[in-house]
Amino acid sequence: MPQAPEPEKLDVVALVDTAERELAAAATEQALREVHARYGGREGAIKRAVQAAINAAPKDRKREVGQVGNAALQRIEGAFEARLRSLGDEARTRDLARTVDVTLPGRSHRPGHLHPITHARRAIERIFAQLGFTLATGPQVETDFHNFEALAMPPDHPARDMQDTFYLANSDLLLRTHTSPVQIRTMLAQRPPVRVICPGTVYRRDDDPTHSPMFHQVEGLLVDEQVTFADLKGVLLHFARAFFGPATTVRLRPSFFPFTEPSAEFDLSCVFCAGAGCRTCKNTGWIEVGGAGMVDPEVFRHVDYDSERYTGFAFGFGIDRMAMLKYRISDIRLLYEGDHRLLEQFP
Ligand code: PHE
Repeated sequence: MPQAPEPEKLDVVALVDTAERELAAAATEQALREVHARYGGREGAIKRAVQAAINAAPKDRKREVGQVGNAALQRIEGAFEARLRSLGDEARTRDLARTVDVTLPGRSHRPGHLHPITHARRAIERIFAQLGFTLATGPQVETDFHNFEALAMPPDHPARDMQDTFYLANSDLLLRTHTSPVQIRTMLAQRPPVRVICPGTVYRRDDDPTHSPMFHQVEGLLVDEQVTFADLKGVLLHFARAFFGPATTVRLRPSFFPFTEPSAEFDLSCVFCAGAGCRTCKNTGWIEVGGAGMVDPEVFRHVDYDSERYTGFAFGFGIDRMAMLKYRISDIRLLYEGDHRLLEQFP
């Protein structure tokens, strides 16, 4: 950057020439502003030179010298503005001339996926919807009444121990241990006939390779006049065939639940070996998937249904387990790790 010339020693015209040349040559806006600040304006070299010339001029010529000085300052301003504009034009032209490689591949987006449990839940909902079951839901934080008491498990009932409940401190609230409380909520809200399925998240205090403290169940409930155990088996069989394929069969084994009588454990013929015996079914040919039974009159009493007139069945099974069997996923924890290598297989 050339040093500013000693202003007083140069005449104003020569100074203006130099300034104009430097302004026109400034390559960047910052350089241009520096040149402008050095020569132009109230503080610049030209103003000082003009002032010196005025001082040196005889009295009758001072006015004329001042006018020449003002004209010189205006020329500097004009040159500055012009260069500022041309720098802007140059930058725009450079931008426009920049070439775009239209052959470059675009950036691809990895699409999201529905979780296998969501796929399974939706498939289950569709199958039961075809049988006329409507969807019902309830809260995950439940009252003791809905989760236990109305399901014929009074406070000291031993069956409560089977459920490994998470309790909320200092209240009678808990994390629901099954979807059966939605049966109670549904029956309290409507009169028979009732035909609902209730999918949802449930919680139990266990955690090992085959159990997660949070998992998913679907509950089914059908109440009407003259509903029988055969209807229950027919619905479960239809479901199993629609979900796993026509070769699937269902087995009901005697069992106990406080809220059903009679109660049954509900098994599927092994979907891996078709009943021949394999590791998954522990060579039994059957896979245990859920519980079922006829609604106990004691439950009807809690929701004020007439058990002389109405009968009903209920069932509940794990959605996670159904998803694992359908999609051949060997470890329940894989369902909750969010690993893309698994999820990407479920578009
Ligand atoms: N709620 C039971 C459980 O989670 C399953 C069940 C539902 C049994 C409905 C009978 C009828 O273990």
